[in-house]
Amino acid sequence: MEIYKHPLYYEVAFSFFDPKEQVDCFEKIIEKFSKVKVKRFLDVACGPGLQLREIAKRGYEAVGLDSSPEMLAYLRQKAREEGVRIETIQADMYNFRLKQKVDFVFIMMGSLVAGSNDKFLSHLDSVAHSLKSGGLYFIQNKAVDWTQNAEQSWTMERNGITVKTTFSTRWKDILNQIYTEKIILEVNDHGQLLKFEDEEDLKFIFPQEFKALIRLNGKFEFLGWWEGTESTWHLDRPLEKAKTPSNINMVLLRRK
Ligand SMILES: C[S@@+](CC[C@H](N)C(=O)[O-])C[C@H]1O[C@@H](n2cnc3c(N)ncnc32)[C@H](O)[C@@H]1O
Repeated sequence: MEIYKHPLYYEVAFSFFDPKEQVDCFEKIIEKFSKVKVKRFLDVACGPGLQLREIAKRGYEAVGLDSSPEMLAYLRQKAREEGVRIETIQADMYNFRLKQKVDFVFIMMGSLVAGSNDKFLSHLDSVAHSLKSGGLYFIQNKAVDWTQNAEQSWTMERNGITVKTTFSTRWKDILNQIYTEKIILEVNDHGQLLKFEDEEDLKFIFPQEFKALIRLNGKFEFLGWWEGTESTWHLDRPLEKAKTPSNINMVLLRRK
């Protein structure tokens, strides 16, 4: 994807959350649900790794996995500037193995969008292989609302760089549950105008199908799914009780 080759513009466009608040929430969730003491975190599809940078600042071991070399180089540069240690791994999240297991895995910003059920199952195997028994897998923004096509647009500014993002999804193939996701970044970098456009066909995994696939994989307990905001999650608001379950949510799995 073209936009992932431009980490600075991606970070300006998508940093509308508070990583401190998110990591505070991780710590609360770990206290409540983890059966292992957490020292080592893995961020899958880490991108610029704002959460990892916060995690490393708090003294934990931080590992970022991403397929984009540009994102990982940017994250290493940011870690150097901020004086924190972050390990980076360039790998495909649908097929990876770690040499050293971690205690907590997370994936943010709706990044878990496999192109097929087989790829999703292979992803679960990869995470299961990398996570200690009793450790948690935290998934932010699992797409659950399949009832409508969506389009949204927002503009962010930082240090003289303005990025307008337009994000849309459209159903393409109903029988095979395929939709097209389109992202456009329109950048004004100190007067230089740039445009990046990406389009990808993805498989929508319906909510109950998602739970069935987790059962089929057999390596995780499904602990629940809850409503959230960009930066926090509400353990007193399970999706089952939400009037209109939203794609802004969290799913929690625990390695058996
Ligand atoms: C939506 S961004 C999320 C970045 C970051 N976690 C955040 O919250 O801002 C998705 C990231 O997934 C990465 N990515 C896409 N496909 C991947 C794959 N198959 N394996 C690993 N990383 C992938 C992209 O390079 C990008 O950095």
